[in-house]
Amino acid sequence: MSGTSGDAVVAIDGPAGTGKSSVSRGLARSLGARYLDTGAMYRMVTLAVLRAGIDPADAEAVESVASTAQLSMGYDPEESSCHLGGEDVSFEIRGDQVTRAVSAVSSIPAVRERLVALQRSMSAGPGSIVVEGRDIGTVVLPDAPVKIFLTASAETRARRRNDQNVASGLADDYDAVLAEVRRRDDLDSTRAVSPLSAASDAIVVDTSDMTEAEVVDYLRELVTQRSGAVR
Ligand code: DC
Repeated sequence: MSGTSGDAVVAIDGPAGTGKSSVSRGLARSLGARYLDTGAMYRMVTLAVLRAGIDPADAEAVESVASTAQLSMGYDPEESSCHLGGEDVSFEIRGDQVTRAVSAVSSIPAVRERLVALQRSMSAGPGSIVVEGRDIGTVVLPDAPVKIFLTASAETRARRRNDQNVASGLADDYDAVLAEVRRRDDLDSTRAVSPLSAASDAIVVDTSDMTEAEVVDYLRELVTQRSGAVR
């Protein structure tokens, strides 16, 4: 699945709170690679569903919105650029409403089918790319030469999330955040379609005791060893 010799295709999966997004962007920057945020695509479809006034649990109605929504994504790791029907929704897709509804939308098989096809065509070469998500190494790019699965203990992820909440003015409630992290872990790893799990050939990296810079350096080293892609 790598394109021109020296190109790297890197799949990065794992649950929220592992630093996955920052690390994926940092790695793409450091490799001079393109970056694809597949979670943002599920978020865009969810926004289209909410704007159409559809119940995210109504699979048939969601499917029809998902099949016609016009999605376009940039590859720049420095700047998120997500357009829905030509409108820049990069900021809006991070809002609470979308975050609450995206699990329901992303569990609908027809939605996954359409987005997986789009993700495959967007990941095609030439050039290196870092693709971030939940099912990249298992479903979207099973032949990716480098697969990383980031983990961190539930306590570490809850602490990071709680720190972010406090920094953005929300209440300091570690116990509630930890309970929510455990609930999401359970839902994500037991859902029927594409449950969150590491590919058998993924390198599992526990980020609990590592800084973001340490993780990026470590992954860059792995990619260099596997594909000689660093320029
Ligand atoms: O990474 P994120 O929080 O932006 O992802 C948003 C949602 O989309 C999250 O609930 C998991 C889901 N998702 C998915 O099911 N498959 C992917 N490849 C990426 C994200």
